[in-house]
Amino acid sequence: MWMAATLALYGVGGATLVGSLKRLRQRFGLSKAKHRSLAGHARIARRVAALIPFYEYDEARFFCSDGAPPDVAARRQHGFERLSGLYGSRFAETIGKTAQAAESISDLQFTDAYRVPFQYRSYVSRRLPSAVFVEASDGVRISDLDGNRLYDVTGAYGANLFGYEFYKAAIDRAAARMRDLGPVLGPYHPVIIENVEMLKELSGLDEVSFHMSGTEAVMQAVRLARYHTRRSHLVRFCGAYHGWWGDVQPGVGNPLPAHETYTLRDMSPEALRVIGSRRNIACVLVNPLQALHPNASAPSDSSLIDSSRRGHFDKQAYTAWLRELRRVCTERNIVLIFDEVFVGFRVAVGGAQEYFGVRADLVTYGKTLGGGLPVGVVCGRHHLMKRFRDDRPADICLARGTFNSHPYVMAAMNEFLRHLQTPEARAVYSDIDRLWNDRARSLNERLRQARLPVAVSNLSSIWTVSYLRPCRYNWMLQYYLRSEGLALSWIGTGRLIFSLDYTEADFAAVADRFVAAAKAMQEDGWWWSAPALTDRSIKRTILREMLTHRLLPRSAAK
Ligand SMILES: Cc1ncc(COP(=O)(O)O)c(C=O)c1O
Repeated sequence: MWMAATLALYGVGGATLVGSLKRLRQRFGLSKAKHRSLAGHARIARRVAALIPFYEYDEARFFCSDGAPPDVAARRQHGFERLSGLYGSRFAETIGKTAQAAESISDLQFTDAYRVPFQYRSYVSRRLPSAVFVEASDGVRISDLDGNRLYDVTGAYGANLFGYEFYKAAIDRAAARMRDLGPVLGPYHPVIIENVEMLKELSGLDEVSFHMSGTEAVMQAVRLARYHTRRSHLVRFCGAYHGWWGDVQPGVGNPLPAHETYTLRDMSPEALRVIGSRRNIACVLVNPLQALHPNASAPSDSSLIDSSRRGHFDKQAYTAWLRELRRVCTERNIVLIFDEVFVGFRVAVGGAQEYFGVRADLVTYGKTLGGGLPVGVVCGRHHLMKRFRDDRPADICLARGTFNSHPYVMAAMNEFLRHLQTPEARAVYSDIDRLWNDRARSLNERLRQARLPVAVSNLSSIWTVSYLRPCRYNWMLQYYLRSEGLALSWIGTGRLIFSLDYTEADFAAVADRFVAAAKAMQEDGWWWSAPALTDRSIKRTILREMLTHRLLPRSAAK
């Protein structure tokens, strides 16, 4: 009797051990599939972020935080003051209104605070204040309140694909078409039928749902994947942005941890192994814009503390990666979601699916698809889009939204989708990569010839600026660019977005101004460098400063 009990105990113990070993192996596999940067470790990143103390440089340190000698610091200060004077006279009214509005607009306070690394923040914002107001657009230029006409490379966060003139006309026509109906919500205007047909054709998928924003479209796509697979977890790749909903933003920025999200390394066989071996994965989310900077977050100048930021788009390698991902997802019945809110319609008429030649199960779109108005869309296969079960009437997957399918938005979307069908629009896409690659190459050549330590990389009309010499002041370029008449978004030089109506002459004007801005910055000494200054030494200095301020907050030298 006791013999049998002992054997049973051994059996249970053995099974527990095997189970534990398996869990340990899985845990180890997951660790290997994470990118080694903080962006790859959401929880740790959040904890580290909470420990970083605020401190700032006083005027003396501001100009020589990299150890530059006094003559260089003086040149920088002279250049900075000239720029500050120019801002004060050229953008006076726009700056005044911005300061007034910032007192009550929390978003403005946030974007203002995150334009440059925080050590320089207050000095910069006092002397080179933000000027966010505009009152007109005209071709590829926007006008501020002081009458300055700036070349727009914000791309309206990517929503401006065909040029502002196109969207102005689309919104006007949409409003005229819906005048008789007005904002009636709930019932549909028939224009929606045509939209659905065109979206099915473009996406190659069977059904469509409408939402108010890209974030909501992603929420719904993930919810549907969880509902139909009855699995809990989503996979996103390190650094990828999918909107600001908690589950797709598990790290810094979200006060709560996301328990059902795996953040894996982009373009990695270890990530494929995890996806191929876990049973709890409902979906894999891909933002194809990551192809320009795999495993790195959206490049913002507020994190431009050194020159390690890089962009490089390798279409072939990214295509091979997407194919592998597709294969593993198919094998494991995992829903592959392409989040094309940013790149959809920008890289090809049929979006990233067409551009990379890989099909997804669900695709999200937004931004430009609204024809200038806010929108989010999910396209998917029949069986994944269904929101109820025929055999379990109480088991539903809810998705609502008061303003979903707003008639004005549907009409503006219709203008956009109809335009996509025209020979004129198709012609724009026919040679799109060559055009934007040539433009990037020609600008890089000019920068190289002028011995400026700056280069651009691009995924079609989406560009990012890299810096080629170790430096702590690269973020200053955004201010020189504005003084030359280029309008950047608050992210700064991390992302320049061109609309497709940029002519050769418009582009040449932007390139001239870009080179002039970089030359002025070079002449003012910001890119001074000593052999001992490396990206690593810069990071070490900053770490030391942080530790000092953390441990000795009062006595820490500025
Ligand atoms: C890939 C991607 N997904 C989702 C979103 C969120 O879209 P929205 O800002 O409309 O909520 C964005 C926004 O930039 C995005 O780039």
